[in-house]
Amino acid sequence: MSKAELKIDDKTIDLPVVTGTENEKAMDISRLRSDAGYVTMDIGLKNTAVTLSKITFLDGEEGILRYRGYPIEQLAEKAGFLEVAYLLIYGELPTREELDSFTSGVTNHTLIHENMKKFFEGYPQHAHPMGVLASMICALSSFYPDSTDPNTNEDEFKLTVQRLIAKSATIAAWSYKNRVGHPVMYPQNRLDYSSNLLHMMFALPTEPYEVSDKVSSALNKLLILHADHEQNCSTSTVRVVGSSQASLYAAASAGVMALWGPLHGGANQAVVEMLQQIYDDGGAGKQNIEKWISRFKDKESGQRLMGFGHRVYKNFDPRATIIKKAADEVLGEMKINDPLLDIAKQLEHAALNDSYFIDKKLYPNVDYYSGLLYRAMGIPTDMFTVMFALGRMPGWIANWKEMMEEKQPITRPRQIYMGEKARDYMPVDKR
Ligand code: CMC
Repeated sequence: MSKAELKIDDKTIDLPVVTGTENEKAMDISRLRSDAGYVTMDIGLKNTAVTLSKITFLDGEEGILRYRGYPIEQLAEKAGFLEVAYLLIYGELPTREELDSFTSGVTNHTLIHENMKKFFEGYPQHAHPMGVLASMICALSSFYPDSTDPNTNEDEFKLTVQRLIAKSATIAAWSYKNRVGHPVMYPQNRLDYSSNLLHMMFALPTEPYEVSDKVSSALNKLLILHADHEQNCSTSTVRVVGSSQASLYAAASAGVMALWGPLHGGANQAVVEMLQQIYDDGGAGKQNIEKWISRFKDKESGQRLMGFGHRVYKNFDPRATIIKKAADEVLGEMKINDPLLDIAKQLEHAALNDSYFIDKKLYPNVDYYSGLLYRAMGIPTDMFTVMFALGRMPGWIANWKEMMEEKQPITRPRQIYMGEKARDYMPVDKR
C-alpha cells in the first residue's frame, strides 16, 4: 500500500493511500487525531470519502455512471426496474429464476395493512406527499417488529426488502389519492411495478383503466436512472441513520426526508415551478430568457437556475442526456406541446453559452428535464420527488446492506468549536 507524508509542526505523519478500482485515490486520515492531535475540516464533505463501496461508480469529470459496473445507458435502455433493484442490492444481475422469484416476492407484498388506510384520513388534504411517504414508511416498522432488528437473518432481510419496495409504491399512490380526494385503488398483481404504480394513481373504481405502455416504459426508465447515485445527501443520510443500528425502515424514511429538499430530489418540482414562473412572466423569447439568466447569476436575487449544477458532475450528467431524449420522444409520441419544454430548451442553450455557467462548470442535472417528463406522463408536480424516492429506494437499501455487512462503525463526525469560552451562570435577574 502506498502512503502520503504529512508534515505537521515538527512531526511527519504517514497516511496510507487507498486506491479504488477506477484508480481514485484517498488518504486515510482515520488515525490523524490519535497520532498528531489534528482532525481534518471539510464542511459539506466536499472532499471526503465516507466509505468504501462496491455499488456505484461515478466519474463527474467524464460524465460516467455505472451500477455494479454496468453503464447507466445500457441499463436504462434494456433493463427493468426490479432487475436493476436486484442488481444494486445483491451485486449481480439476476438469472431468470432469481428475477422471477424477486419479482413475485415484491408483487406479493404490495398490499399495506388495512389499518394504515385509516392513517391517510388523518392527514390534511394539502399534505405534501413526501411528508406522508416518509412517515408511512417509518410506520411500516410498527407492523413488522420482527424486521426491525438490523442484524436479522437473510430471510428476514429479504422479506423487508420486498415489503419496502412494494409497499412504498402503494403508499405513494395512496398519498396522491388522498390529495385529490379519490378512493384508493388496490394494487393489481398482474401488472409490472411501473404499470401497477400508475394504475394505483390514476385508475378509478368507476371505470376500467388501461395503463399506457409508453408512459409505463418511460416511468421504468426514470426509476432506473434514479436508482442509485453513490454518496448523495439522502444515501449518506440512510448510512448515518443506519450506522446507529436503526432499522432499514427508519433509515429509508430518513432518506425520503433528506431527498425532499430543493437542493436534492426536490429540485425536479422546483424546476417546473421555476419554468412556470418564467412562462407567467412572458415565457420563451430572447429578452425574457436573458432577464432570467441574469437573475440566476445574481446572488442577491436568491434564485438559482434549478436543475443546473451538481456537486460531482463537472462535465455533464449522463442521466440528464437520457432524460432529455426521453422527454422529447414521449412528448412527441403523445403529441403534447408543452410551452415549458421550449422555455427549458432556451434556458439551457443560454446557460450553456454563458461564461458564468461555463466557468463554474454548471450543466443540466437529472432534475432539469425529469419534471417535464413526469408532467407529460400526467404526474402532478408535488408527486415528482415521490417518484424519485421510489426510484432511489433500491440504492438506499443496497447502501444500508453494504454498511451492515461491512460492520461500519457509528457515524460521529468531529467539529471545531468556535463558541464562548467557559463562563459562569448568572441568575435571570442579574443578566
Ligand atoms: N444556478 C446559479 N448558480 C449556481 C447554481 C445554479 N443552479 N449551482 C451552483 N451555482 C454557483 C454557486 O452560486 C457558486 O458560486 P460561487 O462559487 O460564486 O459562490 C458555485 O456555482 C458553486 O456552487 P455550490 O453551491 O458551492 O456547489 P455545490 O456543489 O455545493 O452545490 C448544487 C451543488 C446541486 C446544490 C447546486 O449546483 C445547486 O443548488 N443547483 C440547483 C439545485 C439542483 O438542481 N439540485 C439538484 C441536484 S441533482 C439531483 C440530486 O442529486 O439530488
